[in-house]
Amino acid sequence: MQQLNFAGKRIVITGAYSGIGASLLELLRGFGADDIVVLDIKEPEADVEGFIETDMGNPLSIDNAIAELTAEGNPKVSLLFNNAGVAATLPADTVMRINILGLKRLTQRLMPSMQPGGAIVNTASVAGNGWPEHVNEINQFLEIDSWDEGVSWIADHTDVVADGYFFSKECVQVYTMRAAKAATGFGLRMNSVCPSPVETPLLPAFRETMTDQIIDWAIETGAGRVATAEDQARALLSLGSELSVYINGVNLLVDGGYTAALQTGQFTPPGAVDVE
Ligand SMILES: NC(=O)c1ccc[n+]([C@@H]2O[C@H](COP(=O)([O-])OP(=O)(O)OC[C@H]3O[C@@H](n4cnc5c(N)ncnc54)[C@H](O)[C@@H]3O)[C@@H](O)[C@H]2O)c1
Repeated sequence: MQQLNFAGKRIVITGAYSGIGASLLELLRGFGADDIVVLDIKEPEADVEGFIETDMGNPLSIDNAIAELTAEGNPKVSLLFNNAGVAATLPADTVMRINILGLKRLTQRLMPSMQPGGAIVNTASVAGNGWPEHVNEINQFLEIDSWDEGVSWIADHTDVVADGYFFSKECVQVYTMRAAKAATGFGLRMNSVCPSPVETPLLPAFRETMTDQIIDWAIETGAGRVATAEDQARALLSLGSELSVYINGVNLLVDGGYTAALQTGQFTPPGAVDVE
């Protein structure tokens, strides 16, 4: 196989101002990427070929970005990394808009004009591992096409949506599986990376909403060290590359073994221990 090289491919990354997205941008550069467009509310400090100020929680802003990306004369997008995301320090409705409604809108509308042979990689989370418990509600929600109806569904299902973070990431995992088949129709693949806690500017927000005890327990249950942004960026890059050419519809756990240890009963969440 030729050496991994992203030269000549148009790559779109959402949420690349900081954290995992910024690390991915840097890593891709090291593998020859020379056409990176960032969609974010903040302009990245790194040099990029394109920056489109985009609020992933706002459908008009997303549609403007799509119009720019698909304007005549622009190269087709080969790789889309849906990485932007927020924590439940924001209202549940905002979390759901940014983490899933916006991700889905951008993907659905960009996919038909993407370069066959390309790929879409979503940043989900181990926080979405509980999706089987809500699969019926998630399927119902994901089947809604209209933005406004999606927002109404969120308002009508506060019991299952809760603080928005866990449910939004459950939706990203299920969306990845559901849309992977449709992606093949365009010659594309779709997968996700599911990180456990990562040392990024977002981590303090998770400590605030989930408690230090849970975050530290998740880190100890996994590799015993917190993930770096680059740990996650490496996995994102792999799933976007030709190394993963037959991988489709997979939610890849990049959690240092956290889920494996939990599912085999080697560790129990702090709350469960308290009950005994
Ligand atoms: N840090 C963790 O512990 C962790 C764990 C699991 C999953 N994740 C996921 O990783 C992804 C990246 O997060 P991170 O940890 O690198 O945090 P981060 O805050 O460093 O990065 C988030 C990026 O999204 C951008 N962003 C925020 N709101 C936006 C909006 N409305 N529209 C467009 N862009 C917006 C930010 O400017 C930033 O560039 C998120 O989807 C997050 O849910 C993070």
